[in-house]
Order: sequence, then structure tokens, then C-alpha cells
Amino acid sequence: MSNVFESQHPLVAHKITRMRDSATLSKKFRELVREVSALMAYEATADLQIAPREVQTPLAIAPGYDLKEPIGLVPILRAGLGMVEGVWELMPSAEVWHIGLYRDERTLKPVAYYNKLPIAPTVSVCLILDPMLATGGSAIATVDILKKWGVGRIKFVGILAAPEGVAALQQAHPDVPIHIAAIDDHLNEHGYIVPGLGDAGDRQFGTG
Ligand code: PRP
Ligand code: URA
Repeated sequence: MSNVFESQHPLVAHKITRMRDSATLSKKFRELVREVSALMAYEATADLQIAPREVQTPLAIAPGYDLKEPIGLVPILRAGLGMVEGVWELMPSAEVWHIGLYRDERTLKPVAYYNKLPIAPTVSVCLILDPMLATGGSAIATVDILKKWGVGRIKFVGILAAPEGVAALQQAHPDVPIHIAAIDDHLNEHGYIVPGLGDAGDRQFGTG
């Protein structure tokens, strides 16, 4: 699985353990989503292109760099929303383009309900943000949308994945790197990641 990057960072391991804990309430859960997302985005952006730019310090001219590529953050509603803030703090000039998808409970297929992308792409790198990669259907549909939009480089940044979802996304879009905090054991018959953390949307928004 050459294009799959499972975090080995102790802070990530510590924080996702607290997220999994069913005793963790919404406020803390949202905080953890934000923090883990920032750590994951840090790992996922190690290959962003930079352009040299000198800067005057109080003492001398120093060599420096600017980010070169316009970046888009693409949260998949709803659960991806909670990932935006932490990532945006690291790259405040990024554009945020929301994609609305929900899983049909019976078929587990994604149903699209929100997409306001303009006709021409305005960014050259997109980070898809969704905490859960279960069957992979939502992530695949989002990559399809972004490729059709014309984005050159797309990465998936998530928190928990099932092996089934990782395999499906890899097979559909082998060029899209998957940055994930942890890959769990399996999907259950309802399409939930096991052991997982339950419903990431419900746990963030206090619903369900
Ligand atoms: C969850 C999650 C992903 C999707 C993953 O969203 O946030 O978008 O399921 O499942 P998949 O890999 O099988 O497509 P959900 O459909 O529950 O919507 P919500 O975020 O609005 O609650
Ligand atoms: N969506 C979730 O929120 N949790 C899962 O385990 C699977 C899909």
C-alpha cells in the first residue's frame, strides 16, 4: 500500500485513543478532531512546493520560502466540517470548498446534496477532509468530483479507516495519497468501522 500513510506519531495515537473512548463527550471530541486534523495535515503537506523569497530580518537578509501552490480544503459534510479549523490554522490562505454527501443507510452508497464548485478550478492542490473512510464510497465520489473540476493534485486526509475503504479508494484512485491516523480491523454489517469511534458526525454535533 505505497500511497497509504498511517500516522506513527505518539500525539496522534494518544488523541485518537481519547476520541475512541465512548466516555469522551462532544466538546472534547470536537477539540480532538481539530487537533488530530492539524497533526494529520502537517504530515500530509510535507511535499508542498515552495518558492524562494528573501526576507529582511532586523540583522540581515535571510533566505526564505513562500508556499507556491494554491491549496483547497474540501471537507465532506457533515463530519469533515470539524476538521477544517485545525487545518486552516496552519494554512490560512487556503480556500475551503464544501462537498455535501451522506451515506444511504440501506445501500451505504453516497448521496450528493451540496456542491458549489465554480466551473474552473481555483486551486491546484486539494486536501479532502473526512474523519471516516469506511466503504470508501464518499471519498471516491469526492475525488471524482474534484478530478472532473480539474484539480491537479488531490490528497485524502482522515482519522480512522477500514481496510476495505483504503483498498477501494486506492483501487479507484491510485494517484491519491491517503493520510490516516489509524487503519482499524474491519467494517461491520452496517458499514461502521470496528473498533472505530462510532458515528463521527453524531459525536461532534451531539446528534443521534
Ligand atoms: C460518514 C463519514 C463519511 C462517510 C464514510 O458520513 O463522515 O463521509 O460516512 O463512509 P463511506 O466511506 O462508507 O462512504 P455520513 O454519511 O454518516 O454523513 P454525516 O457526516 O453527515 O453524518
Ligand atoms: N461513518 C462514521 O461516522 N463512522 C463509521 O464507522 C463509518 C462511517
